[in-house]
Amino acid sequence: MAEAADYSALEHLRDGRPVKIRALRPDDRADMLAAVGRTSMHSLQRRFFVPKKGFSERELAFFMDIDFETHVALVAQIDEDGQPAIVGGGRYIVVQPGQAEIAFIVVDDYQGQGIGTILMRHLAALARDAGLKELIAEVLPENTAMLKLFKKFGFKTASKGSPQVIHLALQLP
Ligand SMILES: CC(C)(COP(=O)(O)OP(=O)(O)OC[C@H]1O[C@@H](n2cnc3c(N)ncnc32)[C@H](O)[C@@H]1OP(=O)(O)O)[C@@H](O)C(=O)NCCC(=O)NCCS
Repeated sequence: MAEAADYSALEHLRDGRPVKIRALRPDDRADMLAAVGRTSMHSLQRRFFVPKKGFSERELAFFMDIDFETHVALVAQIDEDGQPAIVGGGRYIVVQPGQAEIAFIVVDDYQGQGIGTILMRHLAALARDAGLKELIAEVLPENTAMLKLFKKFGFKTASKGSPQVIHLALQLP
């Protein structure tokens, strides 16, 4: 747990700019809200499946209260004019022993730069190190970027279920 809570790694965007991948911290609340403010309704809907204008205190507490065991959250931090800015995040939540649900969101201006792929790689490594056996995800059928990313990592369609949502699963070695 301590390891995931202190997680930090340096990566690079496709254009070479450095991006820090690190554990979400309790004092990130304002920066997280700033990132949400820069994210389009379209992207928020793809992440949360419903139109989102903001978050209730309860939702915020849930998203910020990370124990790094059953709920692990990483952010992507970029330097913008000398100031660190959160431009993406990914998290997994253990839903039953050995199995966690994973999801991501990247600020629109930074999509297509590799951040989603990098976050996936780091979260999958943390999940594996934590002894998890399977990652699962739910994706809207029209979300080609997310589907492409998950397929790249070997996720397979898990069940048909509701036609509005695609269920995916990845067995961890
Ligand atoms: C889905 C999302 C997380 C991907 O993050 P990202 O940083 O843009 O992803 P990457 O840059 O690593 O690209 C991943 C793949 O998607 C493709 N992609 C990225 N943006 C795309 C777009 N707008 N349309 C089609 N494909 C796209 C990339 O080409 C890449 O494939 P490649 O590696 O073969 O080139 C991001 O687009 C996002 O936040 N979307 C809105 C929220 C969302 O859908 N969350 C998913 C909920 S599970």
